[in-house]
Amino acid sequence: MTDKRSNKMWGGRFELSPSELMVEINASIGFDKVMAPQDIRGSKAHAEMLAAQGIITKTDARDIVRGLDQVKSEIEAGTFTFSTKLEDIHLNVESRLTDLIGPAGGRLHTARSRNDQVALDFRMYVRDAIDAIDHSLMRLQTALARKAETHFDVIMPGFTHLQPAQPVTFGHHLLAYVEMLARDRGRFADARRRLNECPLGSAALAGTSFPIDRQMTAEALGFDRPTANSLDGVADRDFALETLAACSIAAMHLSRLSEEIVIWMTPQFGFIRLTDRWTTGSSIMPQKRNPDAAELCRAKVGRIAGAFQGLLMVMKGLPLTYSKDMQEDKEQTFDALRNFQVAIAAMTGMIEDIEPETDAMKAAAGAGYSTATDLADWLVRTLKLPFREAHHVTGSIVRLAETRGERLEALPLETMQAIEPRITKAVYDVLSVDASVRSRTSYGGTAPQNVRKMARAWLKRLEKAATKG
Ligand code: ARG
Repeated sequence: MTDKRSNKMWGGRFELSPSELMVEINASIGFDKVMAPQDIRGSKAHAEMLAAQGIITKTDARDIVRGLDQVKSEIEAGTFTFSTKLEDIHLNVESRLTDLIGPAGGRLHTARSRNDQVALDFRMYVRDAIDAIDHSLMRLQTALARKAETHFDVIMPGFTHLQPAQPVTFGHHLLAYVEMLARDRGRFADARRRLNECPLGSAALAGTSFPIDRQMTAEALGFDRPTANSLDGVADRDFALETLAACSIAAMHLSRLSEEIVIWMTPQFGFIRLTDRWTTGSSIMPQKRNPDAAELCRAKVGRIAGAFQGLLMVMKGLPLTYSKDMQEDKEQTFDALRNFQVAIAAMTGMIEDIEPETDAMKAAAGAGYSTATDLADWLVRTLKLPFREAHHVTGSIVRLAETRGERLEALPLETMQAIEPRITKAVYDVLSVDASVRSRTSYGGTAPQNVRKMARAWLKRLEKAATKG
């Protein structure tokens, strides 16, 4: 009898079977099967609550829970047959459950709709992803802070406009990313906090007439509370949008770091070495060593920010509450979350692997008159020149050095005095790159002692958080 129905889950009033293309466009099982663990967890909590409230019998609930565990192990073992005709993960699981335990399986969906079910599953999936991402970001921060501690005093050029600006240390540069990732983790934590309300029990959209206990299911599933409005409960996808926005910003950070790795690895820069583990060769040019992993991490932000935009466009203009449009929320979100996690892991591997070419970095740090600001500051400090005038005098000295093809610290004193007679030989103390970085002791500055202190403080903080979590 059931086989003749157009759909055994909802085919009661349908006579014709759907067209093949209808089945194809309607189905989400191809991508939403990854939510099977969340779906089963949610259903178990729902069944237990129904029994506790006397809405179904304890025996039925026990059978349902046992059946769901069986479904779970079939899926894990790879023996479960997913059917496109059954549309999505929710109907696939429920159908198999009923095969396994009989009519009791049909009682599971009491006081529930696929609308609150999918809202719940997707929320839990995103929440799990946030937790995994936070852990990976913490590992990346740790890798960066360790490198920074080791290379706290390795001098490299700091850039603006990608022109040598002022010398900094490699450790300082790496710690800049630790700060960025800390803000990223803050954004994920913030999104998680707002996400953590349970939509289960919103039912189709209006709530239910059954005496359900939403507090109980919310607690069982690790939520802080149930969502307060049933319409919002099924219509809201902000949690995915916020998470994708946080992913986009964090992926942008990874992209910037990737770009630096790519630049630093060119023979023209020669600032870092990456081992064979993180590079590839060329099939035609035997001399090549390509930073493919960094390039891919640089690119991932494209699909991740694309997923954010994509979901935003799906949601815009949708009237409350659920519309099937919302099934388009998952595929790109899953793709973005997965790719983002691969990118973080690859970046962590690269950072652990990276070794600075300290001589090349230091030589480059001294090029391009990068201590000109130190000279100007000296003129301000020692000769009490107004900074604007000191800037002008320094500019003239740099121009002179440039025409002579010499570094600032190699310029004879008389040459400088021809421009500003009050300059003394004490000026040479500030013209080297070592002196320059050492002098940057202001809070947050690049002085190696600062950098070491910061790196150690970060490591301590990260370690503490790791042992706590
Ligand atoms: N597969 C659907 C989705 O992902 C589940 C919800 C279906 N609800 C409905 N009213 N047809 O959105």
